[in-house]
Amino acid sequence: MKVASLAVMAGCILGVSTLYAEQTAMVEKDIAAFQGYFSKQFPGVALEAYEDGVNALPQYAHRRANWEILMEFAPFEPEMEIAREEWATPFNNGKTFSDCFKNNPAGNKYPYYDADTDDIRTVEGDINACLTANGEEPIKNLKNGKIARLVAAFREQFNGQPMAVDVSNAGAQSWYEKGRKFYWTKRGQLNFSCADCHVTSAGKNIRGDVLSAGLGHGTGFPVYRTKWAVAGKPWGTVHRRYDGCNKQVRAKPFKPQSAEYKALEYYEAVMNTGVPLKVPSQRQ
Ligand code: HEC
Repeated sequence: MKVASLAVMAGCILGVSTLYAEQTAMVEKDIAAFQGYFSKQFPGVALEAYEDGVNALPQYAHRRANWEILMEFAPFEPEMEIAREEWATPFNNGKTFSDCFKNNPAGNKYPYYDADTDDIRTVEGDINACLTANGEEPIKNLKNGKIARLVAAFREQFNGQPMAVDVSNAGAQSWYEKGRKFYWTKRGQLNFSCADCHVTSAGKNIRGDVLSAGLGHGTGFPVYRTKWAVAGKPWGTVHRRYDGCNKQVRAKPFKPQSAEYKALEYYEAVMNTGVPLKVPSQRQ
């Protein structure tokens, strides 16, 4: 009896761990297929180059020279000085953001799965968690302004490091699956999925824009956008961008830091495995 139930238990454990291994292998296959698609579509573009978003694509080459000139005196540089200062300014109790973040994964491993809470943790979320833990008010605006500057000040410390998000856990894999579904599901009145624009149509023109490849999405965020600067809010977190893309197809946008957008960010980050961080980035 005892032996039998032990055998059943062992069988279960073995079964479950085989399942994890199978799912991990599936994720690896997804990454290879996603990246392989783009290397076939754009054979001259190296994996690392996708950190530059649409600027990496040959279809954007005619505008790239302008972008390079702009980068000589990057318009976000004065803002980054403020950002670094905000990052280093001690809270009322004398602690700083670095005191919290030294216990967290490196910037190229965000977002990450937290098994204790079965949640995906983003840099934005951890900044607010750090504020709360130190008796400060969390930041309410999760799309632009101070939160974006702080995320930029954290992530720029890891520039050049290839994305390496961990998915080797059943809980993490179910978030991954949620994000993957979101990415490939058609939505909105125009009935477009993320993939319809950023995979199938990458490099094509749409209303005066060239569509970037989904590969690399997020590695440059937060971004500083000329279009947003005109309206006085130059910074955008990646969830601000998701919001904009959802609205373009007249789909209901979700809230920044909602489970939907966290799952989406996680999926995109996994697809970016090997693409280096380049934060912040300037975009049109
Ligand atoms: C109707 C086409 C369309 C759809 C659908 C769409 N986007 Fe976009 N997206 C754009 C355009 C246009 C831009 C600006 C040019 C560019 O970088 O591609 C953009 C930019 C982005 C960027 C910024 C890339 C960078 O490096 O600056 C991200 C990230 C992004 N989209 C993610 C998504 C996600 C995730 C979805 C699905 C929820 C989505 N998009 C759906 C058209 C679309």
